[in-house]
Amino acid sequence: MSSKVFIITGASRGLGLAVAQYLAQASHRVFLVARTEKDLQAFKAQHGSSVEYLAVDLADWKVAPRIIESALQAFGRVDGVVVNHGVLAPITRISESNVEEWRKAYDINVLSALALVKEAIPELRKSNGRVVFISTGAAFGAYSGWGSYGTSKASLTHLSAHLALEEPAITSVAISPGKVDTDMQKQIREGGKEAMTPDLHAHFVDEHKSGRLLDPKKPGNVIARLVEGATKDVNGKHFRWNAPELANFQDV
Ligand SMILES: NC(=O)c1ccc[n+]([C@@H]2O[C@H](COP(=O)([O-])OP(=O)(O)OC[C@H]3O[C@@H](n4cnc5c(N)ncnc54)[C@H](OP(=O)(O)O)[C@@H]3O)[C@@H](O)[C@H]2O)c1
Repeated sequence: MSSKVFIITGASRGLGLAVAQYLAQASHRVFLVARTEKDLQAFKAQHGSSVEYLAVDLADWKVAPRIIESALQAFGRVDGVVVNHGVLAPITRISESNVEEWRKAYDINVLSALALVKEAIPELRKSNGRVVFISTGAAFGAYSGWGSYGTSKASLTHLSAHLALEEPAITSVAISPGKVDTDMQKQIREGGKEAMTPDLHAHFVDEHKSGRLLDPKKPGNVIARLVEGATKDVNGKHFRWNAPELANFQDV
């Protein structure tokens, strides 16, 4: 496959870093976005001129035009976007909620994705590009204390379906990556006890203790192959990373 250009958000660590590693190793050019500049710089130091980045806070969704302009300045085209950044916080029950905290989570999880994808559409139309949105099981089932996360991710997942419907030149898919061994899981174990039900919290602690959390590379490789070459049969749909429908994109 010839070298393409991909934008990956939340690429400083965890799942986004795994996606970026796969794509860089496959000789693509990658444009990384996250807040932690030293992590993005370290990735660039390993891969050189095929990597560029912008260290920005996506809570300010007005940065979207700068991201697309910088990617175009660096590489001249955009073939795909992985909307991977996301926050679980605030973990609070509705009765204890602070609406401002939810608003910030929606800015990060939903509105920044909308702003970025909107800016990318003209380039993605030209390239017949792809967008992969990172969803979660919590977008479909309710978990006590995760209202902000679950409702915002449900909205993000639905955005993918709308994009698929409105933009025939673009392929869009939403992927749930399973329980992945990243900082987000640590946050659940360390900060979720109060608002989650004891059973649910204990389940996440146990998944970690018994080594059942996924290596980010497992779902990361599937997501990377989807942004490289997702086919129209997945357009507008949501899948778990290990769904049989995605067999062509999974490790053999
Ligand atoms: N881990 C799981 O079990 C799991 C399960 C289902 C879905 N997911 C989803 O997978 C995606 C990746 O999560 P992860 O598990 O890899 O979590 P993570 O380790 O916490 O990584 C989150 C990434 O998002 C970036 N980010 C967060 N807030 C940002 C902001 N305001 N502006 C710019 N970048 C921001 C972080 O970078 P900086 O801190 O450097 O900004 C980091 O690169 C998320 O969308 C998450 O909801 C994860």
